[in-house]
Amino acid sequence: MASATATHPAETKAPGPKHNIEAMREEYYQRIAKHGMTPLWKVMSSVVTKEPVTRCQPVIWHYDDIKRLVMESGGLITAEEAERRVLILENPGMRGESRATNTLFAGVQMILPGEVAPAHRHVSSAIRFVLDGEGAYTAVEGEKSYMSPGDFVITANWAPHDHGNTSNKPMLWLDVLDFPQVNFFEASFAEHFEEATQSTSRADGDSLAFYGSGVLPDGAPAHMNRSPVINYTYARTRPIIERMMKAGDIDKRHGARVRYANPINGGPVLPTMGAGLALLPKGFKGEKYRSTEGSIFVCVEGRGTTTVDGKVLEWGPNDVFVVPPWKHFSHNAEKESVLFSISDRPSQEALGIWREDTRTH
Ligand SMILES: [Fe+2]
Repeated sequence: MASATATHPAETKAPGPKHNIEAMREEYYQRIAKHGMTPLWKVMSSVVTKEPVTRCQPVIWHYDDIKRLVMESGGLITAEEAERRVLILENPGMRGESRATNTLFAGVQMILPGEVAPAHRHVSSAIRFVLDGEGAYTAVEGEKSYMSPGDFVITANWAPHDHGNTSNKPMLWLDVLDFPQVNFFEASFAEHFEEATQSTSRADGDSLAFYGSGVLPDGAPAHMNRSPVINYTYARTRPIIERMMKAGDIDKRHGARVRYANPINGGPVLPTMGAGLALLPKGFKGEKYRSTEGSIFVCVEGRGTTTVDGKVLEWGPNDVFVVPPWKHFSHNAEKESVLFSISDRPSQEALGIWREDTRTH
C-alpha cells in the first residue's frame, strides 16, 4: 500500500495526523497478520458481548409435515441402509449445520414394522421422545425397552444401542443429541458392532423399577453423572404433573412442571442435556421468561401458542418448536396442554454460565 508519508502535489491538502495514525495502524495489522496475530481491540465487542448473541431462530415444525415427509423416506431407504433413518430439523439460522439450537441436534426417526436400526455407540448422548406408534423398542445397556408415545428414553455417552419395531405400525420419535457440544470440543468417537442387535440381560422396565421408585439396589453407585433409568414412561410422569396442577403448584411462567432427574444424585438425566414435562391449565397465560439455555419443545397434548421475541408459534400435538437463548417467551394454552422440553441447561450449569431473567415485565 501507499505510504502515508508519500509526497503529494503542492495543491492537495497534506494528510493530517489522524490519517497518518490510521495508515500506520493498517500497515501494522497487515504486518502482524503475517505472524498469525490480530488485534483484540478491533473485535473485542463481538467476542465479549454485553448480552447473549445467537444465530438460533424461533421456529416450529408442524407434525403433519413431519409425518408426511418422514413416511415418504420409508419408500426411499431402509433403516438398515440408512443406519438411522432420520430427518434433521434444522434451525433456519444455521442451515447446513445439522442443529436445532447452537448446542442441540434434533431429528425425527422412523422405524417401520420389522425393521432394525443396528447396534452402535458414540460419545454423543441421546434423548428420544416418542411421538407416534406403539411397540418399537430401544435396547440399551442390556435392557430392551418398549416405547409408547410420551415416553422419554436416554442413551448415554458410549452406551451401545439398537432399535427395532416388532409391531405392525410405523414408529416415529424425536431424537435430540448433544453432538454440537461434543464436536465443539472435537471429542467425538463412534463405533459399530458386528451384531445388529445386542443381547439383553434385563427385563423391560427393570432400570425404572430399580432406580426410579424411591429405592436403590444395594451396591448402586454413589456417583453417576447420568441417570441409570432407561425409559421414563409417560404413564408414570403424566399423573404427577396432574397432581401438581391439582395441588395448585403452577409456576406463572412454566406451568405445573417437573424436571426428569437422575435418581443417584437428583441432578439432570444427562450431563449435557436436561428435560422437563409441564402441564398448562386450559386458558393458561404464562408470564414472560428468558434464560441462557436454548430449548426444544414438543407439544404432547393440547393446543396453544408460544410467543418468542414477538413471533407467535402456534402448536398442536407433536409439533416441535425452538426457543433460542435469552429471547423472551411466554406460553398460552387454549386447551389443557402438555409440553415436553429439552435444553442444554445442565452443560451451562456445570460451567457456571447459566442465567435466567427473573424480572417481571
Ligand atoms: Fe445412535
